[in-house]
Amino acid sequence: MKVLVTGASGFLGSYVVRSLLERGYDVVGTYRTPGKDRVLLELGVKTAVRMDLLDPQSVRQAVRGVDAVIHLAAYYTFVGRKDMYRKVNVEGTKLLAEAALKSGAGRFIYCSSTEAMGPVDNPPADESTPPNPQFEYGRSKLEAERVVASMGSAGLKYTIIRPSGLYGPGNLDDISYWFITSFARGGIYSKFMVGGGLNLIQFVHARDAARGFLLALEKSDVSTGQTYIVSEDRAYTYVEVYRILRELIGRDPPKHSIPPWLAKTLLTFAEIYDRLRGGENFLYRRVVVDAVTKHRAYSIRKAMRELNYYPTYDLRSGLRETIEWYRSIGEIP
Ligand SMILES: NC(=O)c1ccc[n+]([C@@H]2O[C@H](COP(=O)([O-])OP(=O)(O)OC[C@H]3O[C@@H](n4cnc5c(N)ncnc54)[C@H](OP(=O)(O)O)[C@@H]3O)[C@@H](O)[C@H]2O)c1
Repeated sequence: MKVLVTGASGFLGSYVVRSLLERGYDVVGTYRTPGKDRVLLELGVKTAVRMDLLDPQSVRQAVRGVDAVIHLAAYYTFVGRKDMYRKVNVEGTKLLAEAALKSGAGRFIYCSSTEAMGPVDNPPADESTPPNPQFEYGRSKLEAERVVASMGSAGLKYTIIRPSGLYGPGNLDDISYWFITSFARGGIYSKFMVGGGLNLIQFVHARDAARGFLLALEKSDVSTGQTYIVSEDRAYTYVEVYRILRELIGRDPPKHSIPPWLAKTLLTFAEIYDRLRGGENFLYRRVVVDAVTKHRAYSIRKAMRELNYYPTYDLRSGLRETIEWYRSIGEIP
């Protein structure tokens, strides 16, 4: 079976591609940035295709002759431009799904995010909880989900996967990377904790997330037309996350918690600095305070029951592996 993986040059893409190759699939991977085909060829992908979701011609070209599409490519940032979320995540997904349907691809698996669900008042939320995305990124992922689902009636055999916050070796440009490295280097996030640290946050190791996509692909009879949350099976308070980091890194967690209004005031300076240098570090933005003072906790019961999805990492074992990797490449002391 020939499977097209969009966003194969990205962090999650590398894990999904490796899982598919291990299972003997014929993988076609897409990249957007010139030169990143090298990343794909190093992973062992025989066919690397340049595709930009803003370029309809390249999208139609990419789906030609494939049996299934796993759509990971996205404008993935929490501090991006509203028009880009729409163009890449919503319209780009529509373009790809239409092209897949037209070219006869039998399956379309869309990578959404628990951010499409947003914060949760009564944790944990599940797939039937009304979505309440907090940021433009999550709103665009939810809208793209709806576009994909609306094409079910036209014959698109889709599945929607919502991973929670991803981490793992290979992640060098994302929230978990910024947080772990800031803490390990004694940066801002080792100095203070916002609020009481009792809000919940939930993660998934990228290898476990990739298994979710594989199971959805291989269990088409149950997964077609369905949405699944894919994550570790429990959430952690920020206090618990800090406790695990202390154990693995040997640095004390922040001694003081500060109220959200003070955190926002302090982050004003970090935000100005990050913006001036053209950065996209969400942890240096005042809105991060709104994120960490709400619960993000999700149930994976449906994926367990229907896909037989069981995560193999808990946060401690996954972070141990990730921190060892950061040390091995000199990212943290
Ligand atoms: N990271 C998380 O915590 C998390 C959690 C839940 C869900 N997700 C979802 O997981 C998916 C993969 O995320 P990731 O963490 O692997 O992100 P990533 O490392 O930033 O990878 C993004 C991928 O999308 C490609 N891409 C970006 N803009 C594109 C465009 N206009 N046209 C075609 N390709 C484009 C990139 O290509 P280049 O490499 O060439 O730039 C890259 O391959 C996304 O759908 C994201 O929404 C992520």
